[in-house]
Amino acid sequence: MSTRVGAVVPAAGRGERLGGGTPKALRPLAGRPMLLRAVETLLASAHVTQVVVAAPPTLVDVVGQILGPGVCVVPGGGERVDSVRTALDALDDDIGVVLVHDAARPLTPATLVDAVAAAVLAGHPAVIPVLPVTDTVKEIDADGRVVRTPRRDVLRAVQTPQGFRRDILRTAYANRDLPVTDDAGLVEALGVPVTTIPGSEEAFKVTRPVDLVLAEALLADSLARDGQR
Ligand code: CTP
Ligand code: MG
Repeated sequence: MSTRVGAVVPAAGRGERLGGGTPKALRPLAGRPMLLRAVETLLASAHVTQVVVAAPPTLVDVVGQILGPGVCVVPGGGERVDSVRTALDALDDDIGVVLVHDAARPLTPATLVDAVAAAVLAGHPAVIPVLPVTDTVKEIDADGRVVRTPRRDVLRAVQTPQGFRRDILRTAYANRDLPVTDDAGLVEALGVPVTTIPGSEEAFKVTRPVDLVLAEALLADSLARDGQR
């Protein structure tokens, strides 16, 4: 297996839950688009040598200008899996390890990117960052009645970047019609073991308006602390 690490960034979503018109990946946080923050974090990792971004199809040129010549930008698709698939195809042939990272997780620390990449390079075929779940989770039926309450202590919330051996992710994406909400879900369906490592509270996904408020507050706090140094 080649040990060269590449990253793909699905950034083509519309951000419907966030609202506000502008595609979510281009929404500014402390004045800079969240996608730019996510890409810079990937490039800050010593491991990552190539980044491919899947942008909203009408904004490929705009996104290319924002990210500069070092980043490859491809048109994303209708679903996240389509965007990831197109971006995976654009990686250099000699990339052996792939990180898949949401543009919508702009405050992810570079140390988490390093930890995921290192775990794949150490021999784990699929690696995902996770956090304990804090709310109790219920399974419900179509009428909204509770069917089941899974034990909370065995549940984990899953983040990105998720890291994979490239050959395994390529095979997994051949099954991309499966109803999964993350890349590791496709790999699990192959029967490949998926390893968890500790995630980061800062790697939360900006999904709803309250997440944007939290992200701005965290940035304001860290900028203020940097200013004091
Ligand atoms: N994504 C993508 N292509 C799509 C859908 C989503 O590249 N067709 C990306 C988003 O840009 C985001 C990541 O996948 O970086 C996670 O998706 P999500 O948080 O659901 O973002 P959106 O789909 O944009 O938001 P929403 O579901 O609220 O519309
Ligand atoms: Mg979505």
